[in-house]
Amino acid sequence: MSPLLEVNDLHVAYGKAEVVHGTSLAVAEGEFVTLLGRNGAGKSTTLHAISGLIGKRGGTIRFGGQDITGATPRDIVRAGLVQVLEGHRVFHPLTVEDNLLIGTYARAPRGDRSKLDAMYGLFPELAERRQQPASRLSGGQQQILAVAQGIIAEPRLLILDEPSGGLAPMVIDRILDVAKNLSRDGVAILLVEQLVEKALAHADRCYLMATGRIVHEGAAKDLAGSDILHSAYLGGA
Ligand SMILES: Nc1ncnc2c1ncn2[C@@H]1O[C@H](COP(=O)(O)OP(=O)(O)O)[C@@H](O)[C@H]1O
Ligand SMILES: [Mg+2]
Repeated sequence: MSPLLEVNDLHVAYGKAEVVHGTSLAVAEGEFVTLLGRNGAGKSTTLHAISGLIGKRGGTIRFGGQDITGATPRDIVRAGLVQVLEGHRVFHPLTVEDNLLIGTYARAPRGDRSKLDAMYGLFPELAERRQQPASRLSGGQQQILAVAQGIIAEPRLLILDEPSGGLAPMVIDRILDVAKNLSRDGVAILLVEQLVEKALAHADRCYLMATGRIVHEGAAKDLAGSDILHSAYLGGA
């Protein structure tokens, strides 16, 4: 069986400067995969290329058996590949509830209210603030809202780019536990996270990226505490 997401020999450049040099990775249906690496390794660039947010210099991306290499971000979301961007990006003037409804637009052009209660159950801090503009939320609450907006879209693959940014440790654990439960329900997860130990504790499999290349791939439990991990973060790898 072919994987849900299949990235093959991806090259991405900003202008003339190539920063992703032939990355290949795969995520199976319901699998929890983490992509790790130091700041500047090329993780976000890889994710943005997968989601169609930036162009590619080379390589192919397949999702759900279809070639999405040149597809628009909108079509990619419609196909069920949803990315929560780094840095809690939500629509500030809109209420919490309207931000959540926007997450449902890919499936329901007029919004689908039927999943709101489930999101409020997962994240009670959003329920209490449902009629407040997102601008009034703390950074951590905005990050929770951004994650909830991704989940309510009912993706087949949910990509999370550093969801821990600005969050208290207990909230991070809740978000990662929610992601773990989603994967048990069959939603694939691709997580980029600086909190390496937490990411490895939740993931099935991991990729390690350094200067635009995948330098290691394996079971998450084997990488935790390993020399490879150590050198990728501290050494020159
Ligand atoms: N918009 C951009 N324009 C030019 N260079 C960029 C841009 N975004 C990222 N880069 C560069 O690309 C490299 C990879 O960045 P990024 O993918 O954000 O890494 P990571 O997410 O692993 O921290 C870095 O050297 C970074 O400076
Ligand atoms: Mg990044």
